[in-house]
Amino acid sequence: MANQKIASGIYYVGVSHYDRRLFDALISTPEGTTYNSYIIQGQKATALIDTVEPEFKALLLRNIKSAGIEKIDYIISNHAEQDHSGSIPDLLAFYPEAKLVTNEKCRDLLLALMPDIPADRVITIKDHETLDLGGRTLEFILAPWIHWPETMMTFLREDSILFPCDLFGSHLAVSNISMDDERVFYEPMKRYYAQIMMPYRGQVAKRVETVKTLAPKMICPSHGPIFKDTGIPLRLYEDWVSDNLRNEVLIPWVSTHGATARMVEHLTSALIERGIDVHPYDLTAADLGRIAGHLVDAATIAIGTGCVLTAAHPVAAYAALVANALRAKAKFATVFGSFGWSGVKVPDQIAGLLGNLKVEILPPVMTKGAPTTETFAALDKMADDILARHQSLGLK
Ligand code: FEO
Repeated sequence: MANQKIASGIYYVGVSHYDRRLFDALISTPEGTTYNSYIIQGQKATALIDTVEPEFKALLLRNIKSAGIEKIDYIISNHAEQDHSGSIPDLLAFYPEAKLVTNEKCRDLLLALMPDIPADRVITIKDHETLDLGGRTLEFILAPWIHWPETMMTFLREDSILFPCDLFGSHLAVSNISMDDERVFYEPMKRYYAQIMMPYRGQVAKRVETVKTLAPKMICPSHGPIFKDTGIPLRLYEDWVSDNLRNEVLIPWVSTHGATARMVEHLTSALIERGIDVHPYDLTAADLGRIAGHLVDAATIAIGTGCVLTAAHPVAAYAALVANALRAKAKFATVFGSFGWSGVKVPDQIAGLLGNLKVEILPPVMTKGAPTTETFAALDKMADDILARHQSLGLK
């Protein structure tokens, strides 16, 4: 991607990684991502906010040069994760007069992750400290847990532009960083929130309040499109960090020989007949990111699993682990499935993997072999239980 002018003396110089399909060896990125990096020119100094994955350092340097920038005085590091910090050593080498500006925790992490960063070129700032670029002032706002404990935001006061790093990001490769079509970025942005921010929902809610107080005119995150209408990311995040739930059931499931699949079909229909939206996902084929997106507001998680030996299928256990790690907002959870010779421990096994969630575990339905009339009746009862719980929360 070429450099893009955001305002006079302010340029996007990041890169799009169109073909990236996995992040942190865990998170699927079916629409790629961007590593956003920004140039801020003052009258007396120029700053670069964040860098890019090291494999794209040449593109970053090309974009900086094509923006007409010959000298960088400060490299601001909002976050030590490699997708934003990985090119710092090369940038420091390429711009020998540049200083690296970050907070103490981020400094420690950067030096631990990249010992080749010269420690004597690091300037350590404190919360709300400022840096004068000449007619432009950068204010640094510590914001732990808008992904890692060292994360911070940078606010360009005079232009009222916030650079919040991962906060409000999307894993979405775009050729126009100012693309503002919510229909396109909504789903990648929600998946991103679920996977990166939801585990720290309380902290993220505080940062959203901080951003509202700053009232920036523009928000430029470190992944995906920037926001000239700041009401959009604030509205979306206020909903996602809230306790709001939807009248929805997420059914991650896996079936070894088809019996559990028949139970999924029956439960899905029973829930739909009761006016509940259902999201069933075959875990052998589903994109985990889509499942994560539903964890933001589904009121119930119903895990369907066949058995491997006498335990839940490992793929179902993995789905439970992910829901637990991401701290899904669901209020109810349950388990159903088929077993061969013993499956009685499966519901307790799955429930034991959901310890982080504040869920009521509803009665499970486990059946030996093929589902019977009694099995389907028990699944109807499960649907009734879920409906009653959703109604108790006023969900429609
Ligand atoms: Fe985009 Fe937490 O790095």
